[in-house]
Amino acid sequence: MPKRLAFLAAALLAAGPARAAWPERPITMIVPFAAGGPTDVVARIAGEHMSRTLGQQIVVENVTGAGGTTGITRAAQAAPDGYGIMMGHMGTHGAAPAVYPNLKYDPTKDFAPVGMAAGTPILIVARKDFPAKDLKEFVAYLKANAAKLNEAHAGVGSVSHTTCSLLYSIVGVEAARVAYRGTGPALNDLVSGQVDFMCDQIVNLVPQIQAGTIKAYAIATPERSPAIPEVPTTKEAGLPAYQVSAWNAVFAPKGTPPEVVAKLADALSKALDDANTRKRLLDLGADLPDKPGRGPEALQRLVTSEVARWKAVIKVSAAEGAK
Ligand code: MLT
Repeated sequence: MPKRLAFLAAALLAAGPARAAWPERPITMIVPFAAGGPTDVVARIAGEHMSRTLGQQIVVENVTGAGGTTGITRAAQAAPDGYGIMMGHMGTHGAAPAVYPNLKYDPTKDFAPVGMAAGTPILIVARKDFPAKDLKEFVAYLKANAAKLNEAHAGVGSVSHTTCSLLYSIVGVEAARVAYRGTGPALNDLVSGQVDFMCDQIVNLVPQIQAGTIKAYAIATPERSPAIPEVPTTKEAGLPAYQVSAWNAVFAPKGTPPEVVAKLADALSKALDDANTRKRLLDLGADLPDKPGRGPEALQRLVTSEVARWKAVIKVSAAEGAK
């Protein structure tokens, strides 16, 4: 065999078993928001079971800033070897291109999608002594006092930010907007009454709603959530136009070997089949994807449609806001 071919064959032989052995060491999952928030909670619950299936620990690293795009930019640029993955969501992989013209990644092209982890309905919530007893009174109070009210969100382009932007485009006013590194810390300030209200994902809110430390005015889905059946839908509560839901999903950087992506997708699917993991997520109000809604292809389709959807929504919100 000529020398060059022999070298190539040796290199291929060397690469084969190493790849087959993945994972040989812990995997880092970047969560682009603060610890304790919805993306972090979904990542840690799903990651715990995935670690057992993969035989290696999935270690969550919180890399925050710029509505989640700082962490996702870093994760997208990591070596595509299966040891660096991320939990993205409707903001980072749906709305971000519409709000950041210079975004350093393209959600539709720069990732190897792994699978959807959880759908997360949106609620309008306020500090517990907010002077409105229901959603109609909340909207009236917001319209009359917008300039005096503080809304907490997780940065421009995050789920909490874009979904409250949608609310403002419907009600026609905008409160002062206070940015945090995630809705985990934002919720702490809502509980202590330092900010007035939020639009946030259900998995962050259920324990506080159940404990009565915040007020929940409505859930922006067609049906009530079994986790908090006492909270009306926006349709029931008088604001039917406000319909919005988020999602959290696992991605790897583009170029990650297909067999590694397949193992990650299988581990995620097994987590979503596990009774204890399901219960933990369902108790927090998450919607779990059925089998056809899981896996790389379903996630790629979701991202493509969400990027298009949010481009249109944010254009309309901006036009409404300019009136
Ligand atoms: C978080 O985990 O803090 C949230 O997903 C932030 C958001 O997008 O609102």
